Amino acid sequence: MSKFLKALSLGTLIATLPLLAATAHAGDAQKGEKVFKKCAACHAVGEGAKNKVGPELNDVFGRTAGSLGDYKYSKAMIEAGNGGLVWDEATLTTYLTKPRDMVKGTKMAFAGLKKQDDLENVIAYLATYSSAAAPADQQGAAEPAAEEAAAGETETASADTSAAAHAAPVSETRDGGVLGLGRVATDDEVAAWNIDIRPDGTGLPEGSGTVAEGEVLFTDNCAVCHGDFGEGVGRWPVLAGGQDTLTEERPEKTIGSYWPYLSTVYDYVRRAMPYGNARSLSDDDVYALTAYLLYLNDLVDDEDFELSKDNFLEIRLPNEENFIADTRAEEPHYAAKAEPCMSNCKDSAVEITMRARILDVTPGSVDDDDASGMGSVD
Ligand code: HEC
Ligand code: HEC
Repeated sequence: MSKFLKALSLGTLIATLPLLAATAHAGDAQKGEKVFKKCAACHAVGEGAKNKVGPELNDVFGRTAGSLGDYKYSKAMIEAGNGGLVWDEATLTTYLTKPRDMVKGTKMAFAGLKKQDDLENVIAYLATYSSAAAPADQQGAAEPAAEEAAAGETETASADTSAAAHAAPVSETRDGGVLGLGRVATDDEVAAWNIDIRPDGTGLPEGSGTVAEGEVLFTDNCAVCHGDFGEGVGRWPVLAGGQDTLTEERPEKTIGSYWPYLSTVYDYVRRAMPYGNARSLSDDDVYALTAYLLYLNDLVDDEDFELSKDNFLEIRLPNEENFIADTRAEEPHYAAKAEPCMSNCKDSAVEITMRARILDVTPGSVDDDDASGMGSVD
């Protein structure tokens, strides 16, 4: 069970029972709305309430103090929560009377409410935004959790859990309530992003295209930057040529001279080109353009050559062999450290053995007598 749910289920138990019994003669939520104006500079309630200076106060009944994952509380408030402080009618009354008396060091800069009526009314108002504390006059519409709790059905652990789950539907827009951010991506969204193509052909879509078709597409969509023959216009990237230049001082790295896998060409063109109009090409277009880029690099010489999902892996680029797999992680030296130590890694206390200034790695300031390490300043 997540910490969030646990906090809530405990809270449901503690908070709901006395409150439901008491609401009949407790505060007036409507009057409480006016009192809440004193809080509203720092707190929001209601649909879409966000944290402001203070945390949002939806479902504050049953909330462990200091427990919203996406709000930065004072240490004092977090400690109070760890010590078992859960918000309910009684604890809110004490807190709101004099916040700093109850939680010493709280960063809530609010002196407190002096009038008993104001206290009761604002708490009744907050209760209307807390599903774990449905007031008596709203019981008809109350969440099942409140009814279960009222009926005393929370003794067993399972009933308790389900009550909590109802009491605070951790909405789908939240990451299980931990940070209160985001929502689960839809299948379509994942599919739109998941377009990478691997050297082993994983991800290649159905389709095909010929060199001749690619030539037309290239002339229309690519040549303005990359040149009719992939030679590059001005300083736009060169896409062809450069064979046997890799050992030169200024190697010409192209698809033909440098790239290890044809899958990268397909992936890159489909993902990023034409520059400024990415993702505008059909899968067949990209097969045709990839075929044409092979042709420009003298890797196929037949204008009728058709590249498709089926023969894609038969094409090998000349420089593939010169790439080696990165196996560093398997070397004993790395493997031994596969699980890096992240806490209490040193048995003894840390000892300072030398200071950077003495080691002369940190330049002194200009008016230091011994400004050793400084470059010339005059
Ligand atoms: C000037 C800003 C300010 C005002 C006004 C204010 N609060 Fe707060 N409140 C805060 C801050 C900041 C915190 C976080 C306290 C901490 O972390 O120590 C807080 C915390 C709380 C908490 C604890 C919530 C939790 O998640 O643990 C409650 C309950 C609360 N306030 C209720 C109220 C009510 C009700 C009023 C009005 C009567 C009010 N506050 C007025 C700033 C304010
Ligand atoms: C408006 C200019 C422009 C157009 C039009 C254009 N590109 Fe590009 N292309 C670029 C730029 C700029 C880069 C480098 C982008 C980068 O490095 O981030 C690039 C990079 C590339 C590369 C990778 C080159 C390398 O070696 O890194 C390929 C392959 C490519 N384009 C193919 C195409 C194809 C195919 C088309 C037509 C469908 C096309 N480009 C249209 C500007 C353009």
